[in-house]
Amino acid sequence: MENLTLSQVVDELKIHHNEPLTEDRQGETLVLDAAEPKNFNGRRFYIESYGCQMNFNDSEIVAAILQQDGFGMTRNYEEADLILLNTCSIREKAEDTIRKRLRVLNNVKHQRKDVLVGVLGCMAERLKTSLLEQERIVDIVVGPDAYRDLPNLVAKSEEGQKMVNVLLSREETYGDISPVRLDNNGVTAFVSIMRGCDNMCAFCVVPFTRGRERSRNAYSIVAEVQDLVNKGYKEVTLLGQNVDSYKWENPDTKEMVTFAGLLELVALVSPRLRVRFSTSHPKDMTDDVLHTMARYDNICKYIHLPVQSGSSAVLKAMNRTYDREWYLDRVAAIRRILPTCAISTDIIAGFCGETAENHAETLSIQDLVKYEMAYMFMYSERPGTLAARRYADDVPTEVKNQRLQQIIAQQNEHSLIRNQQDLGKVVCVLVEKPSKRSNDDLCGRSDQNKMVIFPRENYQIGDYVDVLVEHCTSASLRGKAIGLSNFGQ
Ligand code: 5AD
Ligand code: SF4
Repeated sequence: MENLTLSQVVDELKIHHNEPLTEDRQGETLVLDAAEPKNFNGRRFYIESYGCQMNFNDSEIVAAILQQDGFGMTRNYEEADLILLNTCSIREKAEDTIRKRLRVLNNVKHQRKDVLVGVLGCMAERLKTSLLEQERIVDIVVGPDAYRDLPNLVAKSEEGQKMVNVLLSREETYGDISPVRLDNNGVTAFVSIMRGCDNMCAFCVVPFTRGRERSRNAYSIVAEVQDLVNKGYKEVTLLGQNVDSYKWENPDTKEMVTFAGLLELVALVSPRLRVRFSTSHPKDMTDDVLHTMARYDNICKYIHLPVQSGSSAVLKAMNRTYDREWYLDRVAAIRRILPTCAISTDIIAGFCGETAENHAETLSIQDLVKYEMAYMFMYSERPGTLAARRYADDVPTEVKNQRLQQIIAQQNEHSLIRNQQDLGKVVCVLVEKPSKRSNDDLCGRSDQNKMVIFPRENYQIGDYVDVLVEHCTSASLRGKAIGLSNFGQ
């Protein structure tokens, strides 16, 4: 396959194509669907994930690596021989949650001395060997680029040694590993397209925990997406810390694949496959990407575009490398090229040196954009970051909290306004699961990534359903199905 151009690969794949597929998820027990490995070694692992979608996807790679080595999986940590926590360091609170979880696991270790406990991911990378000193229960510490070494680390640890591998890599993308889908509704899946981050945002620990940015082989991405389609999946979300800087050179043809190019290749895999991506960086988001989105009905009209602050002075201190005007210009480009596109964002309240005027500018940019949705945080100083080294964390907690509450209150109003705009409209919903409140209702997302709930009738998980929107809150839409959608046909 490697001698073909990428567009030829897509055509090739289509011939064989048999098209018939946050915060509240933190630490949830994953639904494990994979069969016992053929070379089952009699030992089982249990894995919990915290943090971003990338981390959840990494757990699926870890599961694949361990399965290949003969480990079985279990959903019950009490019957596991190896308990793994895939951790997050983004805010202090995220690390506190892990430490509390380790306390609980301590009881298991008291009862069964031979159980091994491994800490994976960002917290492992950040704390390295010191994690072994701080948390006596931990046997194995593995950073995000060292998962291939897990079977070896586990074997050594079984002999009684504490093991650490936190080497970061410039090449590792796990591109050849087919993730074991853990959090499985059989409808939506995440596909990592790159790893690491080269942006040095002053507040952020990610460049230290996930290392340098590198892009995954485009062939392996397209092949993974095709495989998902063959298995009946209906939606993929392409993941990267900064998807707009995706860049991969085909070693045979020297063809350079940009994010816009990759998006197109993935969209071409099937017109019935929805394509999403996250996260975009305002400094890099090109009109090219927007035009590609406009050309394909199956690329969802939804962009997560973190603003962080509405104040150019704060953005400068954050080292975001764009200012308020640049950001608003990018929003204007989205509105021009993709008039129906929903935009969501991330906002940090109370960054170092943030004045009341700076905060007012954040409220005003929120008001100008009227985001469909936002993730909003109080600034939390992270050791080793540019901000921790350069600036005083000088906004008092009460002020941070007060500002955050204002931001949240305003966002709730905007989310409601945005959802009200859908009243009376028909939206195409990809059904993901029964609604939380009632088994008689189904729910799924609209193209704009809004959660839509409607009576089940005879519709199935994985159907595309046209739903007439009749009610809404700031969090979701509710309506009634008017029929199966002919989306992509
Ligand atoms: N404090 C608060 N929020 C943070 N984020 C990243 N680092 C911090 C921090 N130190 C937020 C940013 C980012 C999101 C993933 O988390 O808004 O976009
Ligand atoms: Fe948390 Fe960031 Fe690591 Fe994701 S990349 S797990 S958000 S610290």
